Amino acid sequence: MPKKVTVIGAGNVGANTAQKIAAKELADVVLVDVVEGVPQGKGLDMLESAPVEGYDARITGTNGYEETAGSDVVVITAGFPRKPGMSRDDLLLANYEVVKSATEQAVKRSPNAILVLVTNPLDAMCWTALKVSGFPRERVIGMAGVLDSARFRTFIAEELNVSFENVTAMVLGGHGDTMVPLVRFTNVSGIPISELMDKGTIDRLVQRTRDGGAEVVKYLKTGSAYYAPAASAVEMVESILKDKKKVLPCAAYLNGEYGIRELFVGVPVKLGKSGIEKIYEIKLQDDEQAALKKSAEAVHELISVLKQKVQ
Ligand code: NAI
Ligand code: 2OP
Repeated sequence: MPKKVTVIGAGNVGANTAQKIAAKELADVVLVDVVEGVPQGKGLDMLESAPVEGYDARITGTNGYEETAGSDVVVITAGFPRKPGMSRDDLLLANYEVVKSATEQAVKRSPNAILVLVTNPLDAMCWTALKVSGFPRERVIGMAGVLDSARFRTFIAEELNVSFENVTAMVLGGHGDTMVPLVRFTNVSGIPISELMDKGTIDRLVQRTRDGGAEVVKYLKTGSAYYAPAASAVEMVESILKDKKKVLPCAAYLNGEYGIRELFVGVPVKLGKSGIEKIYEIKLQDDEQAALKKSAEAVHELISVLKQKVQ
């Protein structure tokens, strides 16, 4: 039987994620959105590309959850963008309601699924999905580190005029201004980037990575990035469905690892058919550990707001 993936939210990230999953024949896809006609229309349009592109995956668009039953993976991209006049906390609470409702409805029909969260603020939405689903932490995972690392890799490859594929990078921490690009673990075919660039250049690329989401928003004006985010979510889904056991930076619920408790923070994990199969606790230098702690504190602030308002 083919694998099944539900993608909730048929907007820019959701639609691209669904399309890539189908085109790679990873699974049949159910695309869910609250806007009537949108998931159905996009789903049908994607399906009609199958004969041309030569893939055999089914794509169903729906406004309900019946069709999602028995999904192996549920990707949650549903949410509101930040609108003028809206504070970060307003957005946090609005998307909390969206992710809560999406999670409740999805897990009722797919109690064994692995949840991959994309909606922002990412680390707080992962926490929401974990609490609402009651799933073990291995089955609730956030997408951010793959994207942030991809941005760092892109900027390094462009700077050095080398293949994008040759660059390996590791960005940890929360998905925000305090994210932690780990220069020490970033290399080009095994050559540390400190051998290839001066400190000023590295610092500039680190900052560009931290501002990576904002850089795209500045161009688009009315929305945020979606091609690289969708590709990043699909890399995670593929590793899970094919049990590839890729080691990727993902938001994971920490229970004392890195000295952090009861928070989702980006760390290196092994992703396989059971979800997070291992959290790698690498030994960090003092400045790296301090940066990760600061990033975790930023996530903690959001969770405190949520706890006050919703519990
Ligand atoms: P979008 O606005 O294009 O799509 C969001 C979709 O969610 C819309 O189609 C909307 O109708 C739908 N939606 C709203 N409430 C819903 C509900 N209750 N049930 C089902 N669908 C619902 O936004 P886009 O660009 O696709 O981004 C989606 C989310 O992903 C945003 O929160 C964005 O900030 C976040 N994001 C996170 C990234 C990360 O690295 N974690 C990267 C890129 C985006
Ligand atoms: C990004 O980093 C908006 O979180 C999104 O592009």
